[in-house]
Amino acid sequence: MNIALVGYGQMGRMVHDIALGRGHSVVTVVDPTIVDPTTVDPATDAAAAAGGPVYARALAPELLTGVDVAIEFSLAAAVVDNVRVYAAAGVAAVIGTTGWTDRVDAVASTVADAGVGLVYGSNFSIGAHVFFRVAASAARLVADLDEYDATIHEIHHRRKKDSPSGTALTLAEHVLRALPAKTTIETGRLDRAPHAHELHVSSTRGGANPGCHTLYLDSEADTIEVRHQARSRIGFASGAVRAAEWIAGRTGLYTVDDFVNDTLDPEHRGTQC
Ligand SMILES: NC(=O)c1ccc[n+]([C@@H]2O[C@H](COP(=O)([O-])OP(=O)(O)OC[C@H]3O[C@@H](n4cnc5c(N)ncnc54)[C@H](O)[C@@H]3O)[C@@H](O)[C@H]2O)c1
Repeated sequence: MNIALVGYGQMGRMVHDIALGRGHSVVTVVDPTIVDPTTVDPATDAAAAAGGPVYARALAPELLTGVDVAIEFSLAAAVVDNVRVYAAAGVAAVIGTTGWTDRVDAVASTVADAGVGLVYGSNFSIGAHVFFRVAASAARLVADLDEYDATIHEIHHRRKKDSPSGTALTLAEHVLRALPAKTTIETGRLDRAPHAHELHVSSTRGGANPGCHTLYLDSEADTIEVRHQARSRIGFASGAVRAAEWIAGRTGLYTVDDFVNDTLDPEHRGTQC
């Protein structure tokens, strides 16, 4: 497949390596911070002429000539306009960028009008999605057992600026659906006893951990821990490349859950997320 990378920060660079490793070609790289953009005309097969990707500072339809899928890890403010360019070029897209889904309606109508394929999600790590399903199944198993209480804890490196993580909130939503006794997510510091209906989500920041999420199902008798420990961002990047392989040739708007549901063993998918 010929891939365009839109956004060439930490994720874009990792996606580049993974895409090459899975036998794909990266023919276009777009990022406003590219220091040395390619000067040849991309419309005349510049990638081949230059012996590598065309590097550009701004996205344009002619940069997508011959591209099968664009993979975007950029900035929330850029997504709606970039999707218009993918649509104009008839190119499918994987959107890993977060923070723009309040504008998903605009993206949905662009995708529908153009008849292209687009898959988006805030977490493309397939391992994390397996974890959500295992955690939800474990919570469901104790849903009728009063003695078990559920809590969630996550830890991330000292550079992370927000808390709780989006992954922790997604996990919490799965647990709420699995446990009727829990109706609200509480992410604040508690200077009081938690209410029984609250699912408390706590966060720790420090060190170098790329992300660890744990669901505790706790009783007087025992503690059941369901944990996902990321080793690096590689899980996000390889999931995004696999999603690109999946969206190529499809039309319509999909979430990462649609992709994961199609990717996991159908006999053992378990919980629909
Ligand atoms: N979905 C997932 O699995 C997943 C995983 C990790 C990160 N993310 C998200 O991906 C995004 C990027 O993360 P990152 O860690 O690579 O950030 P980063 O800051 O390292 O890289 C973002 C890059 O986007 C570039 N950019 C800004 N405006 C652009 C535009 N209009 N067109 C093209 N590029 C543009 C920036 O110059 C920067 O190089 C964030 O929204 C982050 O939350 C998603």
